[in-house]
Amino acid sequence: MGAPREQFGSRLGFILAAAGSAVGIGNMVGFPVAATKNGGGAFLLIYALFVFLICLPVMIAEMSVGRHSRKDPLGAYNQLSGGETHWKVAGWLSIITPFMIAVFYLVITVWLFGYLFQSVIGNLSVLADPATFGDFINAPSLFLYMVAVVAIVYLILQGGVKEGIEKGAKLMMPALFVMLIALVIFVLTLDNAMAGVEYYLVPDFSKIDASVVSAALSQAFFSLSLGMGIMITYGSYIDNMADVPNSAKLVALTDTAVAFIAGLLILPAIFSFNPATNAADLSDSSVGMIFSFLPKIFLALQVTIGYLGASIVASLFFLLVFFAAITSLVSIFEVPVAALMDEKQYSRKKALGVLGLLLVVMSVLASMSFGIASFFTEFVSYAGQTKSLFDIIVDVFYDTILPLNGLLICIFVIYRWKKANFNAELDKGAPHYKGSWFERYVDFSVGTFIPVILLLIFINTVALKFF
Ligand code: PFF
Repeated sequence: MGAPREQFGSRLGFILAAAGSAVGIGNMVGFPVAATKNGGGAFLLIYALFVFLICLPVMIAEMSVGRHSRKDPLGAYNQLSGGETHWKVAGWLSIITPFMIAVFYLVITVWLFGYLFQSVIGNLSVLADPATFGDFINAPSLFLYMVAVVAIVYLILQGGVKEGIEKGAKLMMPALFVMLIALVIFVLTLDNAMAGVEYYLVPDFSKIDASVVSAALSQAFFSLSLGMGIMITYGSYIDNMADVPNSAKLVALTDTAVAFIAGLLILPAIFSFNPATNAADLSDSSVGMIFSFLPKIFLALQVTIGYLGASIVASLFFLLVFFAAITSLVSIFEVPVAALMDEKQYSRKKALGVLGLLLVVMSVLASMSFGIASFFTEFVSYAGQTKSLFDIIVDVFYDTILPLNGLLICIFVIYRWKKANFNAELDKGAPHYKGSWFERYVDFSVGTFIPVILLLIFINTVALKFF
């Protein structure tokens, strides 16, 4: 036997680390953009229902599989299925998916770091120039930023679960909350801020159709870091006596609250900049919003709060999103690292070295797909479109495999590992859960309609994306 398995030092540490994973670029920008485009308060309502009725049970399932097996996802599926080959496939998917998502998430985090750096040195007019983003993502300096970001992630993970992941989350998450609230208070004092709040929150149920409902669920699923093996892996580091259902509820609540509050930051800022904003003016993607739209607003702030003030606001914003991205990146990268440590008995250092190198190579290729190398830009074509390497990773892993992984964990927990074992694991640290209506709801939903819904999303995405 090697050293005993690493563990989080406290319940708070675990909750902050898991919330750190969940709170990411998806909350800070993805959610406000999606909500505003898709019916405001109406979208919010549907989203919240999905978080608690569909995603929370899946999160509980993932955490319990991790805690019971005390293994990475591959080892967990293997152990709890008695080594059945087809469940090995599910295990492999749960470690390949996070690695591939880490590739595209790293690319975006590197851009964020670059924009943070430029804001800190006061280069807002450059950032606001429409040509900047295109030049920036192709510039060789990007490689330096990538080295810096990878070094930060490496240093945190090198510290291990308690001294690295947990400490990092305990530092960055409170800082993130403070920056978020400070920025919200600031933007709410700007002219026309309330028009933005109204635009964000007034429900428009006429916008809700099948595609909006499906987008809300995908957003919620991604935002809670499900289907990526993360909650299995983090679950494997929690104490046997920890209360999994309540911890999961807190993580879901924090994640949703941050997404909601981020809307109170972004929308008032946009409306104070242009009170006549309408849906067509808003950027469709998070990337467009962060890197093209918002810098213009930061520059415009110079008129009201001066050069220094605007640079401080922009720096705080990019630091906020950067912290959110780093805690997510740490969690997703821990999954393949844990797998190499558990399955191949690699030391943490060696696992990090091997995977870090691979991650950098893949991410450089993915960033090159934005123009430097046409080979990667026109990698392949399907559904009548030419796709870059970056697009393929997003289409295959983010859009398609995530719901599939969610579906597999549901089926696995109820029908292979079995409901009685699942419940016994959860009851250990949560006597209030045993026999409760919530337990009955989780068992029922995970065994019935949740996998059906995830299957429908999976089939729909495959049909839309690839044919
Ligand atoms: N919950 C994260 C977010 O909303 O951005 C999802 C995530 C993505 C976690 C990528 C980790 C990651 F590397």
